[in-house]
Formats: sequence, C-alpha cells, structure tokens
Amino acid sequence: MSLHFNLLTLFPEMFPGSLGLSLSGKALEAGRWSYDTINIRDFATDKHQTVDDTPYGGGAGMVMRADVIEAALTSIPEPKRGKVIYLSPRGQVLNQEMVQDFSGLEHITLLCGRYEGVDQRVLDAHDIEEVSIGDYVLSGGEPAALILMDACIRLLDGVMGNVETAGEESFSNGLLEYPHYTRPAEWTDAKGVTHNVPEILTSGDHGKIRKWRDEQSLELTKVRRPDLLTES
Ligand code: 6GU
Repeated sequence: MSLHFNLLTLFPEMFPGSLGLSLSGKALEAGRWSYDTINIRDFATDKHQTVDDTPYGGGAGMVMRADVIEAALTSIPEPKRGKVIYLSPRGQVLNQEMVQDFSGLEHITLLCGRYEGVDQRVLDAHDIEEVSIGDYVLSGGEPAALILMDACIRLLDGVMGNVETAGEESFSNGLLEYPHYTRPAEWTDAKGVTHNVPEILTSGDHGKIRKWRDEQSLELTKVRRPDLLTES
C-alpha cells in the first residue's frame, strides 16, 4: 500500500518542497508515497490562459472559474482521483483523526486555490470536501496542502524511525505530550542559571515515570488546550 497525491495548483514548483527532504523525502524515493502536479492553467481555453474572473454580485478579488477547475480535475482518471479535498479557510479544521483517515487512503486529490477562492458550483458538482488547517488566512492552498501531506506521510508504515513514537505524541491520545529531556542532566544557561532534569526521570522506576508523564500531559492540556478535554 502506498499513498498517491494529485495536486491541482497554479504553482506546481511548490511541490514537493520540504517533503522532498528528511524522512518524507526518503519515503518518496522509496515509493511509500507519490504525487503528480496538475497545472490548472494548462486547462484554460482562451489565448490569455485565464483561470479566474470577477465575482458575480461584486466585491474584492477574483474567483477561479468552475469550467477550468473541472477540466483540470477530470483530467485525472476517476479511479486515480480518490477523495477530493479543497484546501480552504472555510473548511472543517484538520485534526489528527482526519489525518489518520486520510493516511489510510490510496489516492487523494488536493485542490489548491489562489485569489478569493473557487466558484462554489464546481465544489458542489464534484462533492468536494473543504479542509482548513487553522483559523488564519494563507495566500493560497499550497502550503496547507504540504502540511496535510506531511501529517499523512509521517503516519505511513516505515516512514518514522521509531514506530512507538506515533502512539505517544500530542493528540494521538487526545492530550498534549509530556515534556522531554536529554543529556546533560545538569545544564547552565547563558544567563548562568542551572537547570536540572526532573529527578523522577533518572530514578529508573518506569511505573512512576509513566504516571508522572501522564500527569504532566493532563496538566499541560488543562492549561494550554482545555478545549481538548471538553471535546466529545
Ligand atoms: Cl486550507 N487555505 C488558505 N488559503 N488559507 C487557510 C487554509 C487553507 N487554512 C487556513 N488558512
């Protein structure tokens, strides 16, 4: 099993970007995941290769044309299209549960918009799901696509060095992760303040360490992300 991304974009040079490096880059070379870019502009039909137009009803910005987007989308044979996602700040906010679902698919098509967005009709006609990566606005969907892809790729079998890590990290159990420490056991910072590692971590008592980490996790979540504790 491997994961294939079709990327509909006006800026194909933005891929694979950071995903060509480090563990995701190795996994790409190893064929654990793959991608094709589809340049939306190649599907414009006029001599100026226009992909957008002014919004009906007036207002600022430009809207990407339904006909051009559809031509780009349907250039991908249906069996290779898989789930189609439009990256948009209006979408459902991406979380680890959604990432886990996506990482189990074989094909994902990511539509990256620019300008004010895409004509609503193409989203409706092709039952395209909208996904946001958080409550702020980016200038285009490409960085959001890279983030969604990164989150999926690292969950693929054999991509992460340490398989156990995935079960412990933030969100996998609905909580933020406990703090980490490594050598040296005693460290003096640039201001001359000495910091020790919490003693329990050097005690060798794995039961107590487990309990301490669970408590730290819960406390951190209460302070920083109480919303995670009240979610279903
Ligand atoms: Cl998915 N796209 C854009 N353009 N802005 C965003 C976003 C996506 N998610 C948050 N902000």
